[in-house]
Amino acid sequence: MPPPFTALIMAAGQGTRMRSSTPKVLHPVCGKPMVEWVVDAAREAGAVRVVCVVRPGDGVAEGLPEGVDVAEQHEGEGTGAAVLAARGTVTDGAVVILSGDHPLVTPGHIDALVAEHSAQRAAATILTTDQLDPTGYGRIVRGEGGAVARIVETKYPDNVPADELAIREVNLGTYVFEASALYPALDEVGLEHGERYLTGTFPVISAQGGRVVAQLTQHAEIALGVNDRAGLMAADQLAQRRILERHALAGVTFLQPETTRVEADVTIGPDTTVGPGTTLLGATVVGAACELGPHTTLRDSRIAEGARVIHSYLVDADVGREAIIGPFAYLRPGTVVHDGAKVGTFVEVKNSDIGAGAKVPHLSYLGDTDVGDKANLGASTITANYDGRKKHRTKLGKSVKTGIHTSLVAPVDVGDRAYTGAGSTISEDVPEGALGIARAKQKNVEGYADRVEEDSK
Ligand code: UD1
Ligand code: MG
Repeated sequence: MPPPFTALIMAAGQGTRMRSSTPKVLHPVCGKPMVEWVVDAAREAGAVRVVCVVRPGDGVAEGLPEGVDVAEQHEGEGTGAAVLAARGTVTDGAVVILSGDHPLVTPGHIDALVAEHSAQRAAATILTTDQLDPTGYGRIVRGEGGAVARIVETKYPDNVPADELAIREVNLGTYVFEASALYPALDEVGLEHGERYLTGTFPVISAQGGRVVAQLTQHAEIALGVNDRAGLMAADQLAQRRILERHALAGVTFLQPETTRVEADVTIGPDTTVGPGTTLLGATVVGAACELGPHTTLRDSRIAEGARVIHSYLVDADVGREAIIGPFAYLRPGTVVHDGAKVGTFVEVKNSDIGAGAKVPHLSYLGDTDVGDKANLGASTITANYDGRKKHRTKLGKSVKTGIHTSLVAPVDVGDRAYTGAGSTISEDVPEGALGIARAKQKNVEGYADRVEEDSK
């Protein structure tokens, strides 16, 4: 059983290459801030506590998930200075050190590193790989018997000997330290190029009799650090692939994964099929056996079992079981479509409740409207919910049938089983079971065509 550990996430770098007013580690990868990926991985691996190193006033603390402790790096540059900033916050036990700009680190890798650290009774354990182009990374110099002697930084390679530059094994910046060995060693590390390097601690720890271990991984993907927006794209793409694979293994079919976007927090039930060009964003929850897309966007929406949402755009909407949305529907915040209802082609709905089994099939706008169960709205039924100053509600009872081109001037109430005549502008309530007609009466002008012909002679 690996020991309990604290995760320390370094996130106080400058991030200037992002060319952004947003701190680097708050840039989203698949909808979730980079640093949150690292926090989640640490927690999943069993961290008892997560501490994040930030710069005072950089806004990162405000963007962290709940329950993460903050240590401020007031002074100094470099990874060693970052870790020293947490000295008063993380005082003992095993400390896993991670970087806030490495969103692809996995719980599995942290787990394995902690297990190795514990099994080896090490003072420090370093995650390494030989599967990367080593340029710019710290190289692992192994001494007698393969023990780690030191790490050579190669950010400024001019003074680095050729035999050290030839080393393929590099430091991935993910470590486990015993706090009792870490801080005393850091006190001994001097400045290089104006920075205090965390990697300067290893020879000190060895000299003090501590064991320094390196664990080699073949999965170099987790080393992908984001320094600029090109790196952000690369991380996003890999994270997206992981998300889709996770859902696929849980029973979701993606017809064209390369055109599909699913953000990190979305949940999808088994036997759901996601068609080409579909984007599932934010806190969206999709039930089992749904059909989404092609070309559907769901943001913060909830779709119940067996519903179909085709070629549509939904924001903060609820769709009931077996309901059918689209093609070409726009559901705006506060829309609830109950079980078995249909919202069809070129229909916009806002802050409305569409009853079970009701149908709004074509060319409608419903704002602030309650539609009763089993109602059927004729094509181009439109609500006038806004009088220029205030919004008002429209209420259509159960099994109401509106004729085509019905305008409903809110506030207005159409009783259960009532009808409206085609082309009506309904501005007064229609009682239960009645027919409301409100349109100009038709007048036929006899012999009109003959008169036009006569006049044009
Ligand atoms: C570091 C390692 C290098 C390793 C590489 C892997 C050191 C000296 N070198 O180099 O051996 O191969 O990672 O990616 O550690 N940070 C702070 N405060 C600071 C400076 C940095 O919090 O003052 C944070 C950054 O936000 C970042 C992390 O520390 O999350 C790593 O810093 P970075 O400057 O990227 O180190 P590298 O040069 O990549
Ligand atoms: Mg880096």
